[in-house]
Amino acid sequence: MQEARGTAHAASVHEPVLLRETIDAIAPRSGGRYIDANLGGGGHAAALLAASAPDGALLGIDADATAIRRSTARLAEYGARLHTFHGSSARIAEAAAAAGFHGVDGILFDLGLSSDQLADPERGFGIRTGGPLDLRFNTGEGESAAALLAHLTAQELASLLREFGEEPQAARIARAIVARRASTPVTTAEELAELVAEVAARPGRPPRIHPATRVFQALRIAVNDELGALATALDASIRLLAVGGRIVVLTYHSLEDRIVKRAFAAAARGCICPPKVPLCGCGMTPSLRLITGKPLIASDEEIARNPRSRSAKLRVAERIGVAA
Ligand SMILES: C[S@@+](CC[C@H](N)C(=O)[O-])C[C@H]1O[C@@H](n2cnc3c(N)ncnc32)[C@H](O)[C@@H]1O
Repeated sequence: MQEARGTAHAASVHEPVLLRETIDAIAPRSGGRYIDANLGGGGHAAALLAASAPDGALLGIDADATAIRRSTARLAEYGARLHTFHGSSARIAEAAAAAGFHGVDGILFDLGLSSDQLADPERGFGIRTGGPLDLRFNTGEGESAAALLAHLTAQELASLLREFGEEPQAARIARAIVARRASTPVTTAEELAELVAEVAARPGRPPRIHPATRVFQALRIAVNDELGALATALDASIRLLAVGGRIVVLTYHSLEDRIVKRAFAAAARGCICPPKVPLCGCGMTPSLRLITGKPLIASDEEIARNPRSRSAKLRVAERIGVAA
């Protein structure tokens, strides 16, 4: 049971990324309604609740039950101003309806995994932390990474590593995993990290990152359907926003950032008619105004303090037109 875990009740060690920029972009106010679609350790949520005192409300969503429990304890002082939802952000519309949020003033996505998850030796997220190779945010749903590695064909595995990890040695690594599992199933983070290091290490070229970093990223994205959930959640979020409400998204790699950039651009364009059509026939109008052209990135000072912020990109857009 998750309650029995040593880390379940420990304070969060996660440091929120681009915190000031996020709060400035959302500009919370008393009476406003906000959604944090990736509650995690509750760092951004605490700042949103503090900045929307005395009676702004916040709905925190997370697929990880431990994150929900930890943040609920951390944010207890905010009482009924805090609502939580355990589940995928793809269910944001359902979560908002359950909290009575109709017309939301700000929505934050801070994607990927938290430092709390990375440090948990029972989840397998950390290459160096080790543990059972699970990698699911929601351990009660879907298939673990170990289960996936046990049944995918070498070809399926290679295309997963290529698509979600942009792994240049995808085919070699996939073949090695399939060969290994014929005698010993790969069930721990240590086993996978060692196996990939054996196959992918380039003699004489010390790697900048652990050779298994992309493999872990690819498996994590796959078992959590991270990109599918993101696309669904963004679409639903734009419809949930009140006119003038802001959506802020923090991404950590190019696959995520591309989805956000395209979703924002499509909503800002509205019309989906082919460019050659002289008159618009689709009747679709823009629903977002882009606030950030180029995404914001962390300062050198923040990167030195919190290396996790190195790859962060922050995009902001505002709801326009007649909201639902
Ligand atoms: C980077 S952390 C968020 C950290 C948080 N902003 C803070 O300040 O502590 C990302 C969180 O999002 C959760 N998560 C990732 N994908 C999710 C999804 N599709 N639906 C719901 N939660 C998700 C993870 O479980 C993790 O707790």
